[in-house]
Amino acid sequence: MLSLTRTIAHPTLARTYAGRAVASLHTLPDLPYAYNALEPYISEEIMRLHHQKHHQTYVNGLNAAEEAMSKAETPKKKISIQPALKFNGGGHINHSLFWKNLSPPDKDGGKLESGTLKSAIENDFGSVEAFKKTMNAKTAAVQGSGWGWLGYNTATKKLEIVTTPNQDPLLVYKPLIGIDIWEHAYYLQYKNVKGDYLSAIWNVINFKEAERRLEEVAKSL
Ligand SMILES: [Fe+2]
Repeated sequence: MLSLTRTIAHPTLARTYAGRAVASLHTLPDLPYAYNALEPYISEEIMRLHHQKHHQTYVNGLNAAEEAMSKAETPKKKISIQPALKFNGGGHINHSLFWKNLSPPDKDGGKLESGTLKSAIENDFGSVEAFKKTMNAKTAAVQGSGWGWLGYNTATKKLEIVTTPNQDPLLVYKPLIGIDIWEHAYYLQYKNVKGDYLSAIWNVINFKEAERRLEEVAKSL
């Protein structure tokens, strides 16, 4: 999974260990829109901090964990590094997906046109409104920090709503839409009212990107 989001190797960013390149450094991806482009639903202040500080910290932590792992010589040492790899690697994967599954309200944000995704949602949840209601309820119920996901179950070929704690990435299903329910994603604007954040975010969800992910996985089966 990590290799899927590994950034393109840059010659000056390759690390070496014992004279050989062991991995390329991960880097913070650019946002596909301006920091203020999701207003009024997600403020510029949140987007700047979320992207430049929080996501950057996961990128730095992942690079440090991978470097430590490459130098670890015993199973015990490798095992001790795994939690940092999982946390920071998951943070990088999840946020990289998250930025792309948002879009400004005057572009693709909030618009679910007729097509593969809308049909699948209506088949599996009854209606788009019922889907949003269930996804918001399950995401709001995450205890502590975590993520709510619309995922595609490749075994049943159905959409499912699932949550993951902390920065655990969605590994079992193909993630189509992820909603960050860490306080850093909403607190500066919505304070403790998670429900308002979850209602507002649908105005900037990029359903076109979710549909692209669905069609990509369907093609690969
Ligand atoms: Fe986040």
